[in-house]
Amino acid sequence: MKTLVLPPDERALAYAKELIAAGEVVAFHTETVYGLGADARIDAAVKKIFALKGRPADNPLIAHVHPDYDISALVEAPPYTAALRKAFLPGPLTMVYPSKGKVSPFVSAGLATLSLRVPSSPTAQAFLRAVDLPVAAPSANRSKHVSPVTAQHVLDDFDGDIPLILDGGPSRGGIESTVLDCTGSVPQILRAGLVTREMIASVAGDCGVYHMRAGEKPKSPGMAYKHYAPGCRTAYFSADALGDAVRCYAREEGAGGAPCFLAEHAVCERLGGYRTLDLGETPAAMAENLYARLREGERAASLLIGIAPTVRGGVMDGVMNRFLRAFGQNADAGEEL
Ligand code: TXA
Ligand code: MG
Repeated sequence: MKTLVLPPDERALAYAKELIAAGEVVAFHTETVYGLGADARIDAAVKKIFALKGRPADNPLIAHVHPDYDISALVEAPPYTAALRKAFLPGPLTMVYPSKGKVSPFVSAGLATLSLRVPSSPTAQAFLRAVDLPVAAPSANRSKHVSPVTAQHVLDDFDGDIPLILDGGPSRGGIESTVLDCTGSVPQILRAGLVTREMIASVAGDCGVYHMRAGEKPKSPGMAYKHYAPGCRTAYFSADALGDAVRCYAREEGAGGAPCFLAEHAVCERLGGYRTLDLGETPAAMAENLYARLREGERAASLLIGIAPTVRGGVMDGVMNRFLRAFGQNADAGEEL
């Protein structure tokens, strides 16, 4: 099939609505990364998402709704969650609630919970308002590959396999939403993102962070999988091992390969004369740039050498989690499967 890439004008939204009603998938811009959406109520449509991505069936999807959607039809929201929704939605926060079982069981991969997200992207909102139903959507990348932050990235993974990409320009947030478990008395972060633990605790009074222990069934199944991997070989060094990193670069070049460093701005400056991909200076810039640089790296390099950013805390929790996983390091999520 031909994959159309269209801005979210009236004609494109009408086509998107038609496709969703027919049980097809539509890729769409969000402020974090692009999503691959289908009607969350239709089993066959949800299964299509899993098949296209090659996603393990035990990894649940997020249901996306517009800001005026009545979520009480879908989930049982504990009272303390109202202040969190007011503070952070629409925006890059996904909240996991006890489900009322109104969407396809394939969305939650058999769990009794349902995760909901209300994106702030005007493109996503126009799409969600046009269809006016819960849209199940993971990131629009092949399973385990780097998440997409432009329509071109989605095309790179799915050209010819999906009918439509709603192009809203680059996703400026750059890393996926924070996933917050709201099924207990205190909210708990399952996946770090742009809405940080400090931000959530300042509204909810307290906020936990889930760490999977080895051998334990993960609370957020996606965190157990190897993710965000560029399609070239990778190596990883901490910023205080630059000498080793440079020797690694030289070995690859000596063997006829094309090595390239991926590092924060200050480290790139120190690596003048070598091929580098610059992640940027601030946490927000590093979040925004990470996936685009990983995709540039896999195209241009035979060996991408990641140098861990030195800034920590806040948004960097989420950036580091993705960075370590992209370079095959065990983040805080236990075994990689
Ligand atoms: O920013 C985002 O969240 C993007 C955009 C498209 O909205 N979506 C996204 O979806 O990143 P995905 O499928 O790539 O990641 C969803 C994560 C997975 O780690 C999954 O295990 C977790 O959320 N998750 C989804 N539903 C859950 C549930 N009911 N309980 C626990 N974890 C859940
Ligand atoms: Mg994903």
